[in-house]
Amino acid sequence: MGENGMKLLTIVGARPQFVKAGPVSRELSAAGIAEVLVHTGQHYDANMSDLFFKELDLPEPQYHLGIGSGSHGAQTGKMLELLETVIQKEAPDAVMVYGDTNSTLAGALAAAKLNVGLIHVEAGLRSFNRTMPEEANRVVADHLSQLLLAPTPTACANLSREGFVEYSGNGHDRGGKASTGRYALVGDVMKDALLAARAISRRNGNGSSSGLRARSYYLASLHRPANVDDPERLRLWFDAFMRADLPVLLPMHPRTRRAAEEAQLLSGIREPLRIVEPLGYLAMVDATANARAVLTDSGGLQKEAFLLGVPCVTLREETEWLETLEEGWNQLCPDPLELWKHVQTPPRNGEICSAVYGDGHAAKKIAQCLTHWL
Ligand code: UD1
Repeated sequence: MGENGMKLLTIVGARPQFVKAGPVSRELSAAGIAEVLVHTGQHYDANMSDLFFKELDLPEPQYHLGIGSGSHGAQTGKMLELLETVIQKEAPDAVMVYGDTNSTLAGALAAAKLNVGLIHVEAGLRSFNRTMPEEANRVVADHLSQLLLAPTPTACANLSREGFVEYSGNGHDRGGKASTGRYALVGDVMKDALLAARAISRRNGNGSSSGLRARSYYLASLHRPANVDDPERLRLWFDAFMRADLPVLLPMHPRTRRAAEEAQLLSGIREPLRIVEPLGYLAMVDATANARAVLTDSGGLQKEAFLLGVPCVTLREETEWLETLEEGWNQLCPDPLELWKHVQTPPRNGEICSAVYGDGHAAKKIAQCLTHWL
């Protein structure tokens, strides 16, 4: 139980959730809210999980479910069963889930079935592409949640269109009755994490740990099922990267490595494409800040590039982060044959810019909102 008598159970499992939970856990603790951290084990490699806990200063999870890989149904189903037991045992005041992974979905379902209040951080994002597993996960999580914490006005507009009402900050409607609203704009906790990472970089000398000179390489990342599960499409992306005019650094996601191995594509990789192991959070932020441009299908990386003034090409048909498309900073390119037409904007030599993802205090706002809500 926390100083103010409240107990929250947080569920994380995949790399981007560790980044989001870092700043929030710190603020919850400062607000006297006790947090039980549960790691589903969806991501389990040391450089996909442990390293992130260390760099983001996350507390050791009280529960590690060790789920590992599997089909969507098997992975989500195993999580659901074990999470139910943990939630029953801990009897928290509420359960909190992040983002759009299978860990989010399982956590949301487990809480809803046990009638425990559910809070969704990064609520309201929509790609409007129901073939993406993440889209189903986020729609279900939002609709099962009692409190939806949105990162952007775009996300709030999506929720409003789906019939949700805004939650007033102090928990009361104008007439003094308890608020019936469910969503609140808090800003993006990934921006909080990014600001903290840049401060660490500055203290450490600001260099890129990639070993490549600033602005003399592209940083790539690829892991979406739509890009990597079809061997022919994956080969086309590798071929596109190998046509670059500068080195392309590709920290390879285990899902992509496995697909590339199965399709026997790795032996064909040559300069300028350089495949490396997945990077930790701090090294990835440094590699982003110093890149000539970022080529990615990751949501988080699109935003990080945007905030750091680095042009980005998103290797998809759509993005949930519409704000990054402003002034052409992020361009959509689902076709590997068209990739290099999109890399034109020079990077802006700047630190974190733009207020669209909040003021860097999203985690604090979440803790304040929870203090009223719980
Ligand atoms: C998951 C999320 C995705 C998120 C991404 C971040 C879902 C549906 N997708 O995708 O939204 O952007 O995480 O990375 O939840 N693997 C390992 N070691 C690991 C983790 C994964 O070897 O530590 C391999 C396994 O072979 C596994 C495959 O990667 O089968 C896919 O992992 P999984 O967590 O199922 O989905 P991601 O593709 O990582």
